[in-house]
Amino acid sequence: MKIEIFKMERMQSLWENVVDYNLSESGVHPLNLKELLSPEEIEELKEIRIGYTQTNGTPALREKIARLYSNLDPEQIMVTAGSSEANFLLLWSLLEPGDEIIFELPNYMQMWGLSRCFGARVKPLWLKPELNWQPDLEELKKLITRNTKLIILTNPNNPTGAILHQKVREEIINLAEKAGAWLLVDEVYRGAERNGQETPSFWGSYDRLLVVAGLSKAYGLPGLRLGWLVGPAELVRKVWTYHDYTTISISALTDHLATKVLEPLRRQKILGRTRNILNNNLPILEDWLQSFDGLFNYIPPQAGAILFTHYNLKVNSTELIEKILKEKSVLLVPGDHFELDQHLRLGYGSDQGYLKSALARLGEFLLQIKI
Ligand SMILES: Cc1ncc(COP(=O)(O)O)c(C=O)c1O
Repeated sequence: MKIEIFKMERMQSLWENVVDYNLSESGVHPLNLKELLSPEEIEELKEIRIGYTQTNGTPALREKIARLYSNLDPEQIMVTAGSSEANFLLLWSLLEPGDEIIFELPNYMQMWGLSRCFGARVKPLWLKPELNWQPDLEELKKLITRNTKLIILTNPNNPTGAILHQKVREEIINLAEKAGAWLLVDEVYRGAERNGQETPSFWGSYDRLLVVAGLSKAYGLPGLRLGWLVGPAELVRKVWTYHDYTTISISALTDHLATKVLEPLRRQKILGRTRNILNNNLPILEDWLQSFDGLFNYIPPQAGAILFTHYNLKVNSTELIEKILKEKSVLLVPGDHFELDQHLRLGYGSDQGYLKSALARLGEFLLQIKI
């Protein structure tokens, strides 16, 4: 079993804590405990026993997660160390060598690399800029066969920030149903919509559905490492046996904090903060992009603190970001990391002063560029 390099994560691991400006992040500026909890609640933390916790998530936490969906029994939830562990466990428990799967691109490439590692044959389903980053359903009809075991989507999408149209969703489910394929939807950006209308979960629309989510993006809490998966009870029980071999359980502190975060009022406040950051920061980034007179063209993101832009320069995206990194100590994600060259992903969820300074640095680079 050979694993290929997860290019974006490797680059971030190497550089994100070293550079002057990190615009490779896809979440909003993280919260701290003082912003999250009252002084009394912070006091309570001192008394928590840091033992093992219930390995599929405490009933209190799963109860809170269940309320985010309609008709979901807490037994159909497995709490994991980030949504990345949820994705890993699902693929590990579902895929066999030779399985055929369809994977939406551009996308967060964890499940692309893992599926290939597990021996699956991965067919890309491209989101098209000319369709406002929706897939071409005629292409999907050609890709899907009786042998398709699984279709993987990220909605809202990373890196484009696009949300699938209702009609597109319905047709994907139709086609999946005809083929008898599983549908796995990573919904970790749900709740980070700029217009404040939470994207409806795919949950409940199909019986072979698996949904993944977590607190890393819309909630600004990536360091909690809290994710979850939901699916049919039998499959979730099967996934539990795989979970016993990975992290066993999340930390007791994370379970406690996540249960607080998902209290309805607190959750609304946190998502409101995220929305404010997105709506205050995006105009700064757009003004900056537009000041380069046609160098960039992009479709504004609907969700997530990320903007994916095409650039009109005859230079490969990895070469470009490496030059920017070396000369200006600013980290961006190249389109190459999503199998789509001539593009860049810029994260705009940071503190405003930081974002403005980072863009000023990038601007210096672009004004003097000779490629
Ligand atoms: C679509 C998607 N899924 C999963 C992850 C991993 O997130 P987590 O911190 O929840 O493991 C990311 C991170 O960028 C992502 O973009």
